[in-house]
Amino acid sequence: IPVDPFDLVLFGATGDLAKRKILPSLYRRFTAGQMPTDARVIGAARSELSQDEFHTLVRDAIEAYVSDTMKDAATIDAFIAQCSYIAIDAKGEGGWEELKTSVRDEVVKAFYFSVAPAIFGPLAEKLRSHGIACENSRLVVEKPFGIDLETAKKLNDDLAASFHETQIYRIDHFLGKETVQNLMAVRFANVLFEPLWNERYIDHVQITVAETVGVGGRGSYYDKSGAMRDMVQNHLMQLLCLTAMEPPAAFDPDRLRDEKLKVIRALDPVAPKNIVRGQYKAGPDPSYLEDAENPDSKTECYIAMKVCISNWRWKHTPFYLRTGKRMSKRMSEIVVQFKETPHSIFDRDEGSTANALTIRLQPDEGMDLSVTIKEPGPGGMRLVNVPLDMSFADALGPDGEEIPDAYERLIMDVIRGNQTLFMRGDEVEAAWAWTDPIIDAWEARGDKPQPYAQGSSGPEEALAMMLRDGRRWRDLE
Ligand code: BG6
Repeated sequence: IPVDPFDLVLFGATGDLAKRKILPSLYRRFTAGQMPTDARVIGAARSELSQDEFHTLVRDAIEAYVSDTMKDAATIDAFIAQCSYIAIDAKGEGGWEELKTSVRDEVVKAFYFSVAPAIFGPLAEKLRSHGIACENSRLVVEKPFGIDLETAKKLNDDLAASFHETQIYRIDHFLGKETVQNLMAVRFANVLFEPLWNERYIDHVQITVAETVGVGGRGSYYDKSGAMRDMVQNHLMQLLCLTAMEPPAAFDPDRLRDEKLKVIRALDPVAPKNIVRGQYKAGPDPSYLEDAENPDSKTECYIAMKVCISNWRWKHTPFYLRTGKRMSKRMSEIVVQFKETPHSIFDRDEGSTANALTIRLQPDEGMDLSVTIKEPGPGGMRLVNVPLDMSFADALGPDGEEIPDAYERLIMDVIRGNQTLFMRGDEVEAAWAWTDPIIDAWEARGDKPQPYAQGSSGPEEALAMMLRDGRRWRDLE
């Protein structure tokens, strides 16, 4: 079903994210018939590009990042015919009047800031002072939303001077991932899980976002950020919130975000012994320090931490988070590890009776619930864990559609005016308020991350942190 006609102004249209994610996602929605034929994408950036040069940029982005089955020359041409370009000077006057005459008042107007946060405020102000944005306009902002509480507050204030909170869509692309949304369906559309979803039955939760890529190519940016700011404060925090939150009264933006906010505010401070930070060593690829172009860097590209939530539901159920670059496998998952049965009528040596619900974000999106059964055969009452497997690819069938990229869902939600999968200003600030003291403490102590081998599952110390609690990380192999 097509969304309403729109004009989407993409600031930062010549940047990496626009080429890798935003333009290809718009193209995929176009091929799916969701982007109306009178919708327009207006690229904006500082460079003086001709319309033809911009069209070539869009074509190259589609060629590079869209799968072959979705590409044909006529469709690409038709999509490109809906794209145009305006050179705009964020802080000066160049291009603004042209933009004003280009965007239509009678359609949904969305302004997408895929630019450095330092110019969020100036761009928002120009849109307002030139009368380009109106009451119904929507503003989409990319991460990083600040580097700490103070900068996030300043960004919120700057945006609030020109836009109302109901117009602001702060992107965390993890929320657009199909499985992440499915986590909410599983929790709140089944009677099966809710009675068990608490400290009485759940031993712990593990959230892993492991990547095989390094930070080469974006090292100097990344080194100012590190895994805590780049991944934990936003993506892992969102996964934790959706796993831990109370059922909202409705699947509605504010009801949902109220519940996430309560989780963040209930997070305990984290003691240093419950955090392990790492940096990958050299071999076969360059080390983190080389990629970061900073031999003295104390920035982590791996982090594992034990996080406790002080509320009735989770008091004695820790959440273990870990994320890192150049690990053995690209794998993101949430594992809800249930407790053993209170009493076993079977010999414990015959196997574990603990169930686990695994929500796989990537690769092979899906879920499985491990249940304990009798090992088939005449060998006595031996117990074995088998997965009740729900792979999305299987559920969609061999002729099923490709699972859409997170950005496709999120951009269409902006046009539909649905903020449910976007972060609210107070939520982002609360996440920084929890993160800041942890980072400040490392900086004050001058902590250096532990080296770990590329292609491994991270520093030994992270393993030891779990073993100390009598638990184990799930294998990454
Ligand atoms: C980004 C981070 O937000 O998310 C990157 O800045 C990270 O460092 C990326 O690699 C991971 O996203 P995805 O969708 O590839 O899992």
